Amino acid sequence: MALTHTENVRLLHSLVESAHFWTDNQAGAATIGLGWPLVGNTASFQFMARELRGRTIIITGASSGIGAATAVACADAGMNLVLNARRADRLEELAERIRKLGNRVEIVAGDVTAPGLNQQLIETAAATFDGFYSVFANAGYGLERPMAECALEDLRRIFEVNFFASFELVQLAAQHLRDHNLPGHLLMCSSCLARFTLPYYAAYSATKAAQAHVCSAMRAELKHANIYVSSVLPISTETEFHQSVMRQNDVRVATEKKADHSVKMFVQPPERVARAVVKCLRRPKPEVWTSFIVRFAAGLFTMSPRLAAFTLDRQVKHAPKGSQ
Ligand SMILES: NC(=O)c1ccc[n+]([C@@H]2O[C@H](COP(=O)([O-])OP(=O)(O)OC[C@H]3O[C@@H](n4cnc5c(N)ncnc54)[C@H](OP(=O)(O)O)[C@@H]3O)[C@@H](O)[C@H]2O)c1
Repeated sequence: MALTHTENVRLLHSLVESAHFWTDNQAGAATIGLGWPLVGNTASFQFMARELRGRTIIITGASSGIGAATAVACADAGMNLVLNARRADRLEELAERIRKLGNRVEIVAGDVTAPGLNQQLIETAAATFDGFYSVFANAGYGLERPMAECALEDLRRIFEVNFFASFELVQLAAQHLRDHNLPGHLLMCSSCLARFTLPYYAAYSATKAAQAHVCSAMRAELKHANIYVSSVLPISTETEFHQSVMRQNDVRVATEKKADHSVKMFVQPPERVARAVVKCLRRPKPEVWTSFIVRFAAGLFTMSPRLAAFTLDRQVKHAPKGSQ
């Protein structure tokens, strides 16, 4: 839909205002609250580190990888935890470790797509810790599949887990915080693949892009209620994610069409993401990136679809001859 001249001018005006506001804020918090007409004093809270000690966070997908590392990092910061994943034994082990640090932990084992599970997480936090401050909707998995052969049921399942379940949790959390007039910080674990995709990873990337867009819009919608929303965009991280992708691949796809996307220098430990999440909880920001280079590349791919296509084409050439 084409914009009218007035709409174009308004959009441009709003962009210029935002640029000024951002530049002012870089000069220091002193410039904020001196009567900025659009945002006013509410913006200053971003520039003071928030105390996390004694606050509660709900983390899904906490039985391994990024979720488990983030649980430990949040415990180190003094937070209480409500942990979820399907493997209860893994959660128990982690909870024991965290309790030894002196933190309080509750476990709600189960599939995030099970009806009522997300509500149970909120109610557990409310009953045990008298509420919560943060949610990290992190449970998710990857799928490597040529799109021309991707079954609709596989596509629906990955959207149920990665997108709908994380969205429901964040939405329920926002409603709870708003109803109780409480501040909070809600995060979803998206991926750098929210910004560009890779061959055979389109289904997964689509779920991650959906998460990132929802977080972006909800951040603006909820800011006035003192509820911050961020998305986390990790790059390739050393977790069980990649084994789980291999397990789900049908053998033919795995052997004939597997593309090797992981360049060693772009693989990070889950603790790297966990530290970035805690930093964001202390000083909220819209997006958490853990690699400047990948973030820069994502920007270049947006500016030049040709460059993105050239790069993606080269990835497919890695497949064995005759499998195209
Ligand atoms: N590793 C990467 O390269 C990478 C990069 C960017 C983004 N991410 C994102 O990071 C998040 C965490 O992944 P990870 O790398 O830490 O992989 P991981 O080690 O496989 O962890 C995934 C977690 O999600 C849980 N989970 C999966 N399906 C679930 C379900 N239906 N219900 C409840 N829990 C479920 C798993 O626990 P159970 O099996 O016990 O249920 C596990 O705790 C995911 O959203 C992923 O998309 C990963």
